[in-house]
Amino acid sequence: MSAAQRLQEIRNEVSTCQRCPLAKGRLNAVPGEGPAQVEIMFIGEAPGFHENKQGKPFVGQAGQFLDELLKAAGLDRSQVYITNVVKCRPPNNRDPLPEELAACQTFLDEQISLLQPTVIVTLGRISMVKFVDAGRISAIHGKTHKVNGQKVVTMYHPAAALHQPALRQTLLEDFARLKKFIGIKAVGAPESSLPEPGQEPEPKPSPSVEPLTPIHAEPEDSTPSEQLSLF
Ligand code: URA
Repeated sequence: MSAAQRLQEIRNEVSTCQRCPLAKGRLNAVPGEGPAQVEIMFIGEAPGFHENKQGKPFVGQAGQFLDELLKAAGLDRSQVYITNVVKCRPPNNRDPLPEELAACQTFLDEQISLLQPTVIVTLGRISMVKFVDAGRISAIHGKTHKVNGQKVVTMYHPAAALHQPALRQTLLEDFARLKKFIGIKAVGAPESSLPEPGQEPEPKPSPSVEPLTPIHAEPEDSTPSEQLSLF
């Protein structure tokens, strides 16, 4: 079975999934969408009101800004895969619960292994902590990490700029820097030969044997008052 076929199967499985109570409240599950051959995979938090209605990721206001951000990176939706860590809408857009994250985990992990993206871009804190569990998003936004061999860029969530307009420019600049990851697969160039302007030092890879498990360290922003999913 090809990657594209299996990705479609996962979409079907997600759309009828009953692994957690979020299934009962949904109108539509949102498995994610995009071609099977991508360089960049974006992972958000969970569907919101509009996504639940339409069954597609990032179609509300945050999604409109995501389209602008993709443009800043020289991309459009047809070139990327967009999904979320949780595939059904949590009530009132609350943060996903650990059991909801756990229920969806195998869907996301298989999507990642089928796509084998050059880079995963996390959107917001909830998807960030799947990969990088150390540091505030305000300190590590736009940075590249290597997590068990997988490049991961940790971005603010696009909705953060809707609440804090000052973050709009920050997000646009962080996304513009994704250009360095485009063309690597097509050209087959070794990544080390590509210029990486302003490249940050990468943290040491996690000693964990499981692929794509986070670098475990207590995040500085784990106090309840700062559990804002968008930042
Ligand atoms: N926010 C997310 O994290 N994901 C969506 O799909 C929409 C809004």
